Amino acid sequence: TILTQDELKKIAAYKAVEFVESGMVLGLGTGSTAKHAVDRIAELLHQGKLTNIVGVPTSKKTQEQAISLGIPLSDLDKHPILDLAIDGADEVDPYLNLVKGRGGSLLREKMVESACKKFIVIVDQTKLVKNLGGTGDAVPVEVVPFCWKFTETRLQRLFEEKFEVGCVAKLRVCGKNEEPFVTDNMNYIVDLFFEKEIGDLEAASDEILRLAGVVEHGMFLNMATTVIVAGGAGRSINMV
Ligand code: A5P
Repeated sequence: TILTQDELKKIAAYKAVEFVESGMVLGLGTGSTAKHAVDRIAELLHQGKLTNIVGVPTSKKTQEQAISLGIPLSDLDKHPILDLAIDGADEVDPYLNLVKGRGGSLLREKMVESACKKFIVIVDQTKLVKNLGGTGDAVPVEVVPFCWKFTETRLQRLFEEKFEVGCVAKLRVCGKNEEPFVTDNMNYIVDLFFEKEIGDLEAASDEILRLAGVVEHGMFLNMATTVIVAGGAGRSINMV
């Protein structure tokens, strides 16, 4: 039988949860893959196979899921150092750099995941890429709503002028009326679409963050410690 993409996500998620130990403070990721991990953690808690777990959610959605499943929660103020985070990603390159935030939760994800001693990323094989942004899919940037159009234009120009990479920057909208998508932090998202690979990711990251009006971007460089990829012929799991 060929496994569906969701079944592959679940396989990767369950594998990651094998690394969870009783007593850990855990970053709880966001998205359809991370959701399986949160479900699994709750299941093991209720079976008594895990005890004394505290979760730090990376979005309001995950917070609601964790509360509904009875997982004890905390935050970065109370737990500034976490043992382990488990989360999905939109793209993973061969150096374990990530694009995240197509679900819109990049800011809280980055805050929580940069506070973790270990960060396990769980993906199905469709997320593997050679170069971040090189496939033409969105690299999200969270921006303040104030004069978002100005920031959108500056982001687009930045890549054309400093990196000589064609880039289209677009405000993320939702619903029939195409209202701006609003993040958990009441900000907007500008998605960047590149015509080819970005090249120097560290430089791109620094330059994006230097623009006033930008809050955070969805490139997670040098953060993942392990990536679990489910896929291939259906059953294989690769850990990098
Ligand atoms: C949320 O903003 C994202 O960073 C998600 O972690 C990412 O989109 C992966 O989601 P899926 O597991 O649903 O693909």
